[in-house]
This record gives sequence, C-alpha cells and structure tokens, in this order.
Amino acid sequence: MSARVATAVAHPNIALAKYWGKKDGEGNVPAVPSLSVTLGGLATTTTVSVDAGLAHDHFSLGGHVTSDAERERVRELLDRVRARAGSKDFAAVTSVNDFPTASGLASSASGFAALALAALRAYGVSSSEADAADLARASSASAGRSIFGGYVELVPGEPARPVAPVDQLPLRVLVCVTSEAAKSTSSRSGMNATKARSPYYAAWVQSAEKNFKELRAALLSRDLEAVGALAEQSALAMHASALAAGVVYFSGATLEAYREVQQLRQQGFFAFATMDAGPHVKVLVHERDADVLAKRLDAVPGVLRVIVAAPGAGASIV
Ligand code: DP6
Repeated sequence: MSARVATAVAHPNIALAKYWGKKDGEGNVPAVPSLSVTLGGLATTTTVSVDAGLAHDHFSLGGHVTSDAERERVRELLDRVRARAGSKDFAAVTSVNDFPTASGLASSASGFAALALAALRAYGVSSSEADAADLARASSASAGRSIFGGYVELVPGEPARPVAPVDQLPLRVLVCVTSEAAKSTSSRSGMNATKARSPYYAAWVQSAEKNFKELRAALLSRDLEAVGALAEQSALAMHASALAAGVVYFSGATLEAYREVQQLRQQGFFAFATMDAGPHVKVLVHERDADVLAKRLDAVPGVLRVIVAAPGAGASIV
C-alpha cells in the first residue's frame, strides 16, 4: 500500500507568562495559564509517512538517533491520532530543526506542534487548529501554543488560542546563547520536582494567575513597557520557586547577562529578561534597538552568540 505523507512547519515560542507545573492526574494539563509569543525565522520541519508495510514507528530527529523517552512521546502522539483515524498503520517520522537544539529555544514546542499537524493530515483526520493545538499540548504543553502565530494563550483545560497578532507590539527577542550543551534537567522533571519539593510552589501558582491576567491586559492595550516588566517578573518567580527545590537552570553567564539587562534599563533602554529551563537568557527589546543591544549582549562574558528573533507565524502544512 502506498504511504500517505504530510509535512508541517512550526516555530518555537517564548513564554512571556510562564507555564511551570501540572495539575494532578493524567493528561499533561498545566497548573497555570501562560502566554507566549511565537518566533519567526526559526523552524522545525516534520514529515509523517503512514505506511501499512511498517512493523513499528520510525523516528529521526535531524538525522540523529533519538532517546527512548523521545521516541515514546512521539509514539504516544501517533497512537492518539491512530485512535481517532481508526488506523493501525505505523508511520515514519523525520524532523529537522534549522536552529541548534541546544540554542535555548524549546525545540519540543515547535517539534510537537509540527508533528501534531503533520500526523493529523497524514492519517486523514479532519481537525480544526484547536484540535491540533490540544493534541500538541497533550505531548508538551508549550507545543500547543506553537500552532498559532503572534501572541498565544494557554488556559488550563482549554486548547491554546491566539490573543493578538504578530504586529501587536514593536518587539524583538534577543536569544543570548550561553552554552552549547543540551539541558541537563528537562522542563518536565524540573517542574515536577518544583511541585513536589518547593516551599514556594503554591505562591508561584497564585502569582502566575495574577501575572497572566495583567500581562494579557497590557498586551491588548499595547503597553510594551508593562509587558516586558511582567514577563521578567514571571520568569523570576518561576525560577525562584524552582531554586527552592534545588532545580537550578542558571549558570554564571545567565547572571552576567541578566545583570547587563538591568544595566541597559538603567541607561534608559527597554530591555527585560526571561529564562526557561536552561542557562540562556532571552531579552525582550524594542525593534528599533535590536541591533545595538544584540552587540551589547554579545560582549557579555559567557554569552556565545545572540540570535535576533521577531514575532512570527503559526504552524502550517507545506
Ligand atoms: C519553562 O512544555 O516543555 O519553557 O508539558 O512537560 O512538555 P511539558 O513541558 P514544556 O515546558 C515549558 C516550560 C517553560 C515555560 C513555558 O514555555 O511556558
């Protein structure tokens, strides 16, 4: 039987209001609402080929052999799609990132968004963008947000949905890469450890609700300054709760870059930092300052390079 093939492209996203922690029980449901911006210029391209002749699923990421855990998460997504399609056929999945996997940009977000779209199409499941977003979210919550472009929210128990278009704010994200190594503690195990052990986890959940509401309102009223300040607060609160559980993503270079962001602010620039489950620092800047500030941050000891990214489009079938 001939293979049914679909290819999808998706882009990473950066959470301005962070997701950190899951609700009890199955289903990978976030404990807090989050709000992200999808980044253009960086892409994951994933092809799913459904083939009745295969004895099991195949998965390759950028031509590399993948870990058992990665393969298992891909298989789980394919199983969900097969259940909806009424199909028992296996598939070959190939996925390529055009940005380094250790760049500090969540490749799992763009990866599972592209996989969800391509798998639904390849198995012939008719679905809305919301269906694709919920399928991606079940595999990796941040991936649900990468289905859409511009600014996207993910409220617990609901599929991700767009909040504001790409051009809502004159924003650029400067990704300060501080390490070439893959992260040592995945976001999944880091957030589970935070929930289990941090004395500040409950405070984080409470503050995240308020931060999300305020950030969403600031975004809708195009208040760039408030969006930046609230995004930095969200990242600091998330890491404070994680730190108290011994979950440390910062390196010396993270702190050096953060100090430089504080200095840029003192010098009158719009510059706010956000950090995820790794040592890299993403700096929110005004589009008119992007080149000047990229040079300043590139000169910080421990910053290896700076990637300039703009808000971009959602995932699509190609
Ligand atoms: C710090 O979406 O990778 O980037 O749902 O367990 O796959 P899982 O977690 P994941 O966590 C992302 C955490 C974060 C913040 C964010 O993107 O909101």
